[in-house]
Amino acid sequence: MEKNKKIILTGDRPTGKLHLGHYLGSLKNRVRLQDSGEYDEIYIEIADTQAITDNFHNIEKVRQNVIEVTLDYLACGIDPEKTTIFVQSQIPELYELTSYYLNLVTLSRLQRNPTIKDEMKLRGFEKSLPMGFLTYPVSQAADITLFDATVVPVGEDQAPMLEQTRELVKSFNNSYKEVIVNPEMMLPDNKACLRLPGLDGKAKMSKSLGNCIYLSDEAEVIEKKVMSMYTDPDHIKVEDPGKIEGNVVFTYLDAFCTDQHFEKYLPEYKNLDELKEHYKKGGLGDVVIKKFLNNIIQEELEPIRNRRKEYEKKIPEVYEMLMKSTQKAREKAISKIAEVRDAMGINYFDDKDLIEEQTSKYGDN
Ligand code: TRP
Repeated sequence: MEKNKKIILTGDRPTGKLHLGHYLGSLKNRVRLQDSGEYDEIYIEIADTQAITDNFHNIEKVRQNVIEVTLDYLACGIDPEKTTIFVQSQIPELYELTSYYLNLVTLSRLQRNPTIKDEMKLRGFEKSLPMGFLTYPVSQAADITLFDATVVPVGEDQAPMLEQTRELVKSFNNSYKEVIVNPEMMLPDNKACLRLPGLDGKAKMSKSLGNCIYLSDEAEVIEKKVMSMYTDPDHIKVEDPGKIEGNVVFTYLDAFCTDQHFEKYLPEYKNLDELKEHYKKGGLGDVVIKKFLNNIIQEELEPIRNRRKEYEKKIPEVYEMLMKSTQKAREKAISKIAEVRDAMGINYFDDKDLIEEQTSKYGDN
């Protein structure tokens, strides 16, 4: 176990291009953490094995999206020199650690995981539950601990996974030797970023609900999407008083805008509080607030989109980078799994004591 190192690990399932919800909820923060220089090692896992647990009949989707997610990472400023991006399925040691952990958890414990419960309903797995799916939180515990992660930056929906991981760590360390690092969860600090609602006001921006702004969307597409956003259905005439709660434009402004944005795009107001007051009172039209939001989102996404286009011209190089980066992760995985086997006492061929013990047992023959 590497003592006193600060190590980050997080990941995404490659099931679609990344959107504004991913960006605000995690990517932006990951880039900040990466550039803070405070961490000794940073890993981002493209969790294809996990994605397969509910896409086993549609592996093509996973296959296509490994590169899309990689392009989105690079576009956002994840720097492969500082952050090791790796592909889960290509690290066999993860399966090995998962299989040891599976002995330390019960069926009923797995069935109690609230995220698993929700996802089972959503995917119609209540009648016929694939074991790979039910046990993915255990495999996620392996993802985190095989790399000695101390900090796991994720959204709040991942809290049950971290809880399960910490239980497994405790159980392993108590059963064998203390070689597994107990990780901490790190949530985004801006509350509005915790779960960005969809354009239509639905609880979550999600590919399957078709209510997303993608990081790769063109400027005109973004503008159209912003102008179609859900606001307050009772705010019909400009003079009408408007509601802020549940108004998606304001939720996004909460997540995104700064006083500098007002100076630049809407100098009639000092800050968001002033804008909200006017909207509540009446006399402020939706078009004004939508145009303002559009300006802010365009400013944020334009450099990302442009950087993505540059990488799109070099797909073979991007795969090459991903392969090298995965190899680097693999080296760590190989040395950690040796430590795990040693802790369990199943490192037969390196275990001189064991060989000696067996030799002397038969020595009198
Ligand atoms: N379960 C995470 C999600 O759906 C993805 C993931 C896989 C992950 N392995 C991880 C996140 C390890 C953090 C750490 O978003």
